[in-house]
Amino acid sequence: MIRKYLYGNPIETSAITEEMELSKDPIPYFNELTLNSGETVFTYQMTESDIVYGLGEANRGLNKRGYIYESFCTDDPNHTEEKRSLYGAHNFVVISGMISVGIFIDCAAKVTFDIGYTEQDTLKITPSVPDFKVYVIDGKDAYDIVKQFRKIIGRSYIAPRWAFGFQQSRWSYMNEDEIREVVRKYRENGIPLDAIYLDIDYMEGYKDFTVSDERFPNFKDFVAEMRSQGVRLVPIIDAGVKIEDGYDVYEEGVQNNYFCKREDGSDFVAGVWPGRTHFPDFLNEDARKWFGSKYKVLLDDGIEGFWNDMNEPAMFYTDEGLNEVKDYIKNVDLSNPDSETIFKVKDKLSGLANRMEDYCGFYHNVDGQMIRHDKVHNLFGYNMTRSAGEAFDELEPNKRILMFSRSSYIGMHRYGGIWTGDNQSWWSHLLLNIKMMSSLNMCGFLYSGADLGGFGSNCTRDLMLRWLAFGIFTPLMRNHSALGTRRQECYNFGDTEDFKNILSIRYSLIPYLYSEYMKACLNDDMMIKPLSFEYPADDFARGVEDQLMIGESIMIAPVYEQNANGRYVYLPEDMLLVTFKSSSQRKYQILKKGPHFITVALNEVPVFIRKNKLLPLCRTTICTDNMDTSRFEIIAYTNDNIDYTMYEDDGISKDYDNPNNYCQFSIKKIDDQLGAVSSKTIVKLSLFN
Ligand code: GLC
Repeated sequence: MIRKYLYGNPIETSAITEEMELSKDPIPYFNELTLNSGETVFTYQMTESDIVYGLGEANRGLNKRGYIYESFCTDDPNHTEEKRSLYGAHNFVVISGMISVGIFIDCAAKVTFDIGYTEQDTLKITPSVPDFKVYVIDGKDAYDIVKQFRKIIGRSYIAPRWAFGFQQSRWSYMNEDEIREVVRKYRENGIPLDAIYLDIDYMEGYKDFTVSDERFPNFKDFVAEMRSQGVRLVPIIDAGVKIEDGYDVYEEGVQNNYFCKREDGSDFVAGVWPGRTHFPDFLNEDARKWFGSKYKVLLDDGIEGFWNDMNEPAMFYTDEGLNEVKDYIKNVDLSNPDSETIFKVKDKLSGLANRMEDYCGFYHNVDGQMIRHDKVHNLFGYNMTRSAGEAFDELEPNKRILMFSRSSYIGMHRYGGIWTGDNQSWWSHLLLNIKMMSSLNMCGFLYSGADLGGFGSNCTRDLMLRWLAFGIFTPLMRNHSALGTRRQECYNFGDTEDFKNILSIRYSLIPYLYSEYMKACLNDDMMIKPLSFEYPADDFARGVEDQLMIGESIMIAPVYEQNANGRYVYLPEDMLLVTFKSSSQRKYQILKKGPHFITVALNEVPVFIRKNKLLPLCRTTICTDNMDTSRFEIIAYTNDNIDYTMYEDDGISKDYDNPNNYCQFSIKKIDDQLGAVSSKTIVKLSLFN
């Protein structure tokens, strides 16, 4: 059951798509307190065994207990353990214990979730403004609550199937030749690849919707050339529009008042990659339509996917901030500074980016009403992606365009996926990636993933291999790294055989992964789940955060520590361990329910097939265009009749509800013998019981 409550006069976020009456009951389960400051606080007394799930893209564990989180979209490339805010704001939590209850705070401004940080047993939620909506959901268990929530926020964005291929990115591949070289090396080494990313340097002076003539003199031809090799190019689009006379996007934006304004009505200015920019007012419907229509120029060049960036929005500086620093420094004696003086100057300079004062310094025009940015901050990246998504629906009504964003809010999951922003080449960030995936699924962000190998810092060969071995299972599988870091393409770590083999596993799993992803999208379900959602009565499984259920057939247990030769794994039931060395080289072992230590070499990927489930595998390929889905190999763990329903479509059009998109794989007893039955050709059955 879901109850809805209204506080003050909030702006419509469109996070919830279902019409609902306001509840007449008082808020159940939570205590509600209005402070003298006008703030409303919701508290919940947690019992010892309660787990708190949720918050989507947030720091720390799957169980959010024991820390404090601030929902305020933040560009923080150095997100160490103590950080409270990341790029997304996903205000949905589920408390799971003796009773289970979920709460969604639909608030466009900052919301603080103190989950046993100040007081160990108290969950305290504080929206920073008086205007918001609250939804309280009760249900049988955490998973049931998540499914109810997912029903009211609408269907998740659906990516094209090619976006399940491996994708290579770098800030930046500077020109056509550099990209040709990357593709050649992937192909020469037999390492699969489906896409290459264009980071900011493909543009002319970092101007959105331009392409540098010098670096890409025949862009359209180049897009086609790459496409003929099975590689799509995916350009970045940044939120800030460069201020430059003669630049059409800038001039149109100024003329039509499509940019965010200062209080005095002038266009707000912030420094980002191009230098001084204006921010499109994505909360304004006309501006949203206008900006969305701009993607056409790249679609016309044959582009089929985009990533939206810097849309928290991130600011390196404003003139107001710069002036303050200049004034400050003017009065500092730098002839012989002591450490305190130097640290203060340094702090002033580093404090220039993303200042709260600047977020309070500009306004949106929402249906004629001027709203200060900080009050709707979390909707900015959401509406940038919405502007693209709505435009794609018009420009390419029956074609799926890849789209994912850095900043997000619940509701944006209908228009695009997300990547989890600027992580680092740290083992702890691999673990963070593992722990975050199911929380993202709870909030509807199914097409998601992290920068594999880590964005900042230098990646090592072993970290890259272990991260890829996990990335195989995330819908977005992209290797991305920052300017100035060690080259991170798979062929840059010596012997390439292990990389080729690990990626071959991904490509033979794509039909299964895509099927599980599509079924999760179409049924408002999760593709990646914590063990506790499948085995709610198993107390041990409730505590496991570093193993995941991927779809209905498999569990994974990635290795995330350097120099580990394996790891401990908890099996909530008997399972078949398949240790893949490549798509075709495997070892099998049946393991009993309970704890085990499994050895996992650097070039191996362990996959656990659940009892009475099967896993279909196709032949591996070099890109998804070449994938043959008429012939399958089946690995099954059963001594009985079982079925697997596979979703399969053309991967690009939007005919999702066609019943022909489903086919069956069955293990059936025929003349006392178990065999595989399917409309597909089964080339091999590996049956275990
Ligand atoms: C931001 C993005 C990163 C990108 C860089 C340059 O830091 O998060 O992915 O490479 O900007 O565009």
